[in-house]
This record gives sequence, C-alpha cells and structure tokens, in this order.
Amino acid sequence: MRIFKEIKEAQGYIKKEKEKGRSVGFVPTMGYLHEGHLSLIREARKRNDLVVVSIFVNPAQFGPKEDYKRYPRDLKRDERLARASGADIIFYPSVRGIYPDGYQTYVEVTDITERLCGKSRPGHFKGVATIVTKLFNIVQPDIAYFGQKDAQQAIVIKRMAGDLNMDLKIRVMPIVREPDGLAMSSRNRYLSDRERSDAPVLYDSLNLARRLIKSGCRDTNRIKNDMKRLIKSKKGARIDYISISDLRNLRELKRIKKEALIALAVRIGKRRLIDNMIVGGRI
Ligand code: PAJ
Repeated sequence: MRIFKEIKEAQGYIKKEKEKGRSVGFVPTMGYLHEGHLSLIREARKRNDLVVVSIFVNPAQFGPKEDYKRYPRDLKRDERLARASGADIIFYPSVRGIYPDGYQTYVEVTDITERLCGKSRPGHFKGVATIVTKLFNIVQPDIAYFGQKDAQQAIVIKRMAGDLNMDLKIRVMPIVREPDGLAMSSRNRYLSDRERSDAPVLYDSLNLARRLIKSGCRDTNRIKNDMKRLIKSKKGARIDYISISDLRNLRELKRIKKEALIALAVRIGKRRLIDNMIVGGRI
C-alpha cells in the first residue's frame, strides 16, 4: 500500500495506473476508520483494480462552533485498517495543499442542501460538495463509494455528479451498526457511558416507524409523533429534526406512498447523532 501526501504525486501515479487500463474505486473519508468505512473499502476492493482511500478532515464542512479541531485523528491505525481491508493507496493531503492561500472556488448544490441537516449546519454541504469535487478531480475514479449513514450527503453527491456531468458512478452502501443498533460513527467515542446507553434510541425510533408502516400506517405526522415520544423518554436526548421526505428532492411528505427517507438528528448530551432508514427504494 502506498501513502501519498502530495496532490501532484497522487494524481500522477493514479493517472499512470488508469493509462494501463486499471479501474479506480475511491472511498473518501475523514479518517478514524471504523467498520462503516471498511465496508466501503472492501466493496471497492471487490469491483476495482486500484482502491484509493482519502483521509482528509475537511475544515470547509465544519461550522465555527463544530468539532473540527477535536475531530479524532490516528493515521497509523487508519493505515493498518485500510491496508487490511484491501486499500492500495491512502491519499492524505494537507489542508494547505487542498486550500492554498488565495483559494476561492466552491461548489454549491441548492435546495436539497437546505433541508434536514442543512438547516442546522449552514454551509456544511457546500464544504462537502467542494471537497468531493476536488477529490474526484484528483483521483478520477470510475466508481466512488459512500455510506447511507449520511443519506443526505449521498443524495447531494449523486445530484452534483449528475448535474455537473461527472464521468463516474456513485455507489451507496448500507449502514453498518453496533450490535445494539447504534450506527457506527467516528464521533461515537465521545459519548459518556450514560450517553452511549441512550444512543440506540435513534435506531429504536426508526424500527418503531418501520413497524407502524408495516402495519399500514401512512400518516407521517403520526409516525413522527410516535418516534418523538420514544426519543423524549430518554432524558439526555434533544431532537434536532425528524423528517420523512421524498427520497429524490427531500421535500417533506404528508403521506408515505412508495419511497421515503426517514431521517433524524438527535443531540445526546453534547453530541449530535444522525441515523436514517429508507422505505420502498434506494439512493
Ligand atoms: P466520514 O464521516 O469519514 O465518512 C466517510 C464515508 O463513510 C461516508 O460516505 C459515510 O457515509 C461512510 N460511513 C460512515 N459511517 C458509516 C456507517 N456506520 N455505515 C456505512 N457507511 C458509513 O462523510 C465524510 O467522511 C465526509 O463528509 C467526506 C465525504 C469524506 C467529505 O469530506
């Protein structure tokens, strides 16, 4: 496995590999890898000749009060895990390399970025769309892999890739969970024992929604209210949003017809956790 810090070196190496006819699978991450990330790397390994993993904690997608500085970092551990999962290249650029002095170009996806997480994280998806575009330009992947864990992000990236005629495929892989249902996240390590024991309530509320829908309920207000009640039974939990939306445009639905994205963000203590479930379709 090779590790590149320099953008030009990574770009040059990958370009040569592509010229030999090798297909490139790409997994963009912010590091501190866990099973969720590794599932994407393994899938990329199955379907591509060259597997590139980027590790870059992207300052442009963190708000001023968010945890950019405190975001967990451990390159040695990430190297080991990425190698064991089949990565050929780790691309680990510096902030200076990605955003040099005088940098002023951003990619903005409208409307769908203003909904769900976009409401409480203004500018977040602009930072994501920008870094992902830059990484796509550097790596030139045939297929890029994203997790359904960040469903809105995956929808935004798909939209962007389509809208900007990017010549690659976007694959979205299932959410990897802890045994008690908590969606894996690099930030889970910051939960106290008490918070950790409350955290599975997000998944429990999605399962409650699933049961209601299975039993024939289509009224999204009723489903959201039942989810709300369950989450509020945990003292330390504060709901940011619960949304049941159209999977394509993320507009809120009154009734569930065919496809829907059920997504929520909940603060447990100081941590903001997200989770989601898709009914009747896929991203
Ligand atoms: P990060 O949070 O490190 O996640 C990298 C990829 O792993 C994302 O596509 C995310 O959806 C996926 N992922 C995270 N947890 C997962 C889980 N439990 N199950 C399945 N997939 C999971 O998302 C980002 O980084 C950044 O926004 C990035 C796209 C790299 C741009 O900076």
